[in-house]
Amino acid sequence: MLPEVRQEKAVETYWVPGQYLKYETQRLRPALELIDRIPLASPRVIYDLGCGSGHITRFLAKRWSSCKVYGIDNSSQMLSEAVSEPSSVHWVNADICDWAPLETPDLIYSNAALHWVDNHFELFPRLINCLRHRGCLAVQMPLSWDLPSHRLMRDTLAKGGPDGRPFGDASLLSALSSRWVENADSYKEILLPCTQHLDIWETEYLHELQGDDPVFEWVRGSGLRPILNALDDADRDWFVKVYKKRLREAYPKGPGNRTLYPFRRLFIIALT
Ligand SMILES: C[S@@+](CC[C@H](N)C(=O)[O-])C[C@H]1O[C@@H](n2cnc3c(N)ncnc32)[C@H](O)[C@@H]1O
Repeated sequence: MLPEVRQEKAVETYWVPGQYLKYETQRLRPALELIDRIPLASPRVIYDLGCGSGHITRFLAKRWSSCKVYGIDNSSQMLSEAVSEPSSVHWVNADICDWAPLETPDLIYSNAALHWVDNHFELFPRLINCLRHRGCLAVQMPLSWDLPSHRLMRDTLAKGGPDGRPFGDASLLSALSSRWVENADSYKEILLPCTQHLDIWETEYLHELQGDDPVFEWVRGSGLRPILNALDDADRDWFVKVYKKRLREAYPKGPGNRTLYPFRRLFIIALT
């Protein structure tokens, strides 16, 4: 029998796990590179915040097999996928914005999730304060704000429909109007006063994607999701047509149906 998902709060965000995992190999690599830098020998309690479909959470549970591992997410689609594969992980439907651990963690891990949560100046010290003494916060977030794919996304949305009519309501644009990840210096400033050791670095991956409109398919599984969910059918069709065309120009396909997608990511290991 599959384990139950404990429900802490009835907040919903709609994700399609299969679309997100279309580029699983490329998305998994930074998650594993982050795990490799965690300097804990035998943590007892681990929380994976924004665990999604749980493949990395299960990896954490195997790597530290005597540890209690919690997977936290607020998407029921992602959590349904997570529980579908038996594991020792405790899955919890909760919002990171007001999450507090049931047990004091040795490790809080979060891959490609905290950029969905606002106000990192409040969030990061709060997460550090949850940790046990000599605990670790390990975070990876995409630095996607300035990428052509994401600039074109905002720009196409701002330009509106065929007659210049705005798409959806103004709140959609304003939700996308502020940078979701701060620069590395800001995390240094936030974390230096409340940690014993910090390791912050950036890596740019040159993802090789196969097939037609691969950059569109990539963002459709992640950053584009709130826009597609918010538009009505006619607006969505128009938006997708224009945006795909602009993406093809920005990311031309190379030989063998391969497209290179440069993608920068920020990594943080903070020790208390
Ligand atoms: C891009 S996926 C990453 C999933 C997983 N960490 C991975 O690397 O495969 C981001 C996940 O964060 C979750 N998420 C976003 N905002 C959240 C919030 N406020 N509270 C809980 N989970 C959240 C989403 O539901 C989604 O499953």
